[in-house]
Amino acid sequence: MASWITICDTCKREDWAERGASESDGARLAALVEPLAKGAGIPTRRVSCLMGCTHGCNVAIQASGKLAYTLGRFEPVEEAAEAIVAYAALHAKTETGQVPFRQWPQGVKGHFVTRHPPLPET
Ligand code: FES
Repeated sequence: MASWITICDTCKREDWAERGASESDGARLAALVEPLAKGAGIPTRRVSCLMGCTHGCNVAIQASGKLAYTLGRFEPVEEAAEAIVAYAALHAKTETGQVPFRQWPQGVKGHFVTRHPPLPET
C-alpha cells in the first residue's frame, strides 16, 4: 500500500504578509514536494487546511492500515521537501508506518505534530 503525502496548500508562515508573497507558503512547498515525490513513486495531493494553521507549513503522511503522521513548521524550501519525501519513502517501506528514529531524515526531526493509529480492521 502506497504512502501518500498530503500537503496543505493554504499554509502561510507568520511573516507571509510582510514578505508580500503572492503565493501561499503551502503552495510553494507543494510545488517543491510534488516533483520529488513523483520521481520516488510516492503519490501526493493538495488540500486546503489541515487545521494546523498556527504552525505551518503542514503535511500529512498516511497509508491504509499504518500509523499516520502530521508534520508542521516547515519552510517552503528544497531541503524540507527532500526530507518530507525521504521520510514518506521510509514510511512506505514499513509494515506499521513506524520509521525507526535512527532512520529519520534530519530535516523531519522536530517537525512531528500528531500521530494517528490506524483504524481497527472490522
Ligand atoms: S492553512 Fe495549512 S493547516 Fe490551515
